[in-house]
This record gives sequence, C-alpha cells and structure tokens, in this order.
Amino acid sequence: MNFIGKTAIVTGGSRGIGKAIALKLAELGANIAVNYTSKPEEAEKVVAAIREMGREAIAIKADVSKGDDVQRLIDEVEHQFPTIDILVNNAGITRDTLLMRMKDEDWDQVIAINLKGTYNCTKAVTRKMMKQKSGKIVNIASVVGVMGNIGQSNYAASKAGIIGFTKSIAKELATRGINVNAVAPGFIQTNMTEVLSEEVKESLMTHIPMKQLGTPEDVANVVAFLCSDNARYITGQVLNVDGGMVM
Ligand SMILES: NC(=O)c1ccc[n+]([C@@H]2O[C@H](COP(=O)([O-])OP(=O)(O)OC[C@H]3O[C@@H](n4cnc5c(N)ncnc54)[C@H](O)[C@@H]3O)[C@@H](O)[C@H]2O)c1
Repeated sequence: MNFIGKTAIVTGGSRGIGKAIALKLAELGANIAVNYTSKPEEAEKVVAAIREMGREAIAIKADVSKGDDVQRLIDEVEHQFPTIDILVNNAGITRDTLLMRMKDEDWDQVIAINLKGTYNCTKAVTRKMMKQKSGKIVNIASVVGVMGNIGQSNYAASKAGIIGFTKSIAKELATRGINVNAVAPGFIQTNMTEVLSEEVKESLMTHIPMKQLGTPEDVANVVAFLCSDNARYITGQVLNVDGGMVM
C-alpha cells in the first residue's frame, strides 16, 4: 500500500481511532488534514508526529455537524494540498441512555454529528473527487448500527443511517472512480469505551468470540486497505472489525 503524494482528511483525527487512522495513512505516505473540535493540543501532537514521518499535515478545527464549518475545512485543505484523495468520516459521539430517559438533545446531537456530519463532509468532497475521477471514502459505522444495543438507540440509528448512506453513495459514485465503504468496529479500546464499567465490559466479552477488545490500529489497518488500490474492486461494503461479534 502506497499513499505517497495523496491527501487524506480524517475527521475527529485528534485521538482514538481517528488518530490511529491518520498515523497509519501517513506512515504509508499520505499527507493528512487532521480535523478536530476540541483540545487543539491533541490535534497538534498528531500533526507533529506526522511531520516527523516526513509528510505534510495540518490541524483544522471544524464541527462536522455544521455545514459552514465543513465548507471552511474543505476550502483550507484545497488551499494547502492539490488533491483530496481520501476522506475518512470518523468523528462521532455517544449520548447513551434508555429511550424512556432520552432527551431530544441527546437524539439530535448524536444524529447531527455522526450522521449529518458524514453527509456534510461527503457532499463537500464529492465534487472535487468527481473532477479528479478518483477518490476513497470510508465511513466509520459500528456493530451497534448492525445489531442494535440497549441504551444506544440514538447511536445505533446514526450508525445504521451511515451504512444506508454508504451503500447509496457507493452506487451513485461507482462509475466515477470513487469507492465508498464503511468499517464497523466492535468494542475498541479508546476514550469512548474507557467510560464503560467493568461489569459492562465483562458482559460485552461474552459476545466477543475472540475474548478481547480491539485496538485503534486494528481499525486503522482495515481503513488503510479500503483506501488502497488493493481494494479497487470493493465498494458499498461494510467490514466488521469486531473479533467476531457479528457473523
Ligand atoms: N471505540 C469504540 O469501541 C467504537 C466502536 C464502534 C465505532 N466507533 C466509532 O469510531 C469513531 C471514533 O471513535 P473513538 O472511540 O476514537 O472516539 P473518541 O471519543 O476517542 O474520538 C472521537 C473523535 O471525534 C471528534 N469529534 C467529536 N465531535 C466532533 C464534531 N462535532 N466535529 C468534529 N470532530 C468531532 C473528537 O474530537 C475525537 O477526535 C466514532 O465514529 C465512533 O462512533 C468506536
């Protein structure tokens, strides 16, 4: 896999899975735009690590749920780099609670960032990728979007929405040299899962045939594959990276 001279945008690239994806694509040669919303010092650390590898990198603050922010993000990337070859829609949040206790804001915010954010960024890069006649878009979904989960109806709906969106856009862009796929991680060790109680983690383990949590790098390796020429003939797919949870 070789991404030398290519430009990748990774949303929510300042930590967790997004950070691992940004570093992996950079290791394989790509220049990276690291998007983030808070804690600029985290994004700057990722940028510094990428520059140490000899690649170009910039950190761009933008809330993916806001159309204007996303347009500014894309404008800045276009100003800095000649092409946009890869978009990884990774930014995501959880606001877990049972439906009966869910506030409208919990629903709206999760859908706005996870689902509308994916739509906003994809729409904003599509024109350029169509002109280039090439591009790779990878959306980070979740096994929860496939299986559902108690206390995550908002999150599951956003991730199931991402899967439907991925398949539709893959069909729309298939003749334009643009591959659109989704990766559905299972339970991966990041800040998002750190907050789970030991009890919940133990109960989760009973559903994971491999009996271990995944690492951000496990997800990054699959994203890199989907962004590479090795995955030239793959589009509209959802690849589960979950130790066998969904099969
Ligand atoms: N950790 C897991 O077990 C797991 C499992 C399945 C799917 N996922 C998905 O993987 C992705 C990354 O998750 P993570 O575990 O690394 O989480 P994380 O909380 O560590 O990182 C999330 C990233 O998204 C960014 N972000 C949040 N809101 C944003 C916004 N409005 N605009 C731009 N960026 C924003 C954050 O700044 C952060 O960089 C998410 O889409 C998540 O749903 C994670």
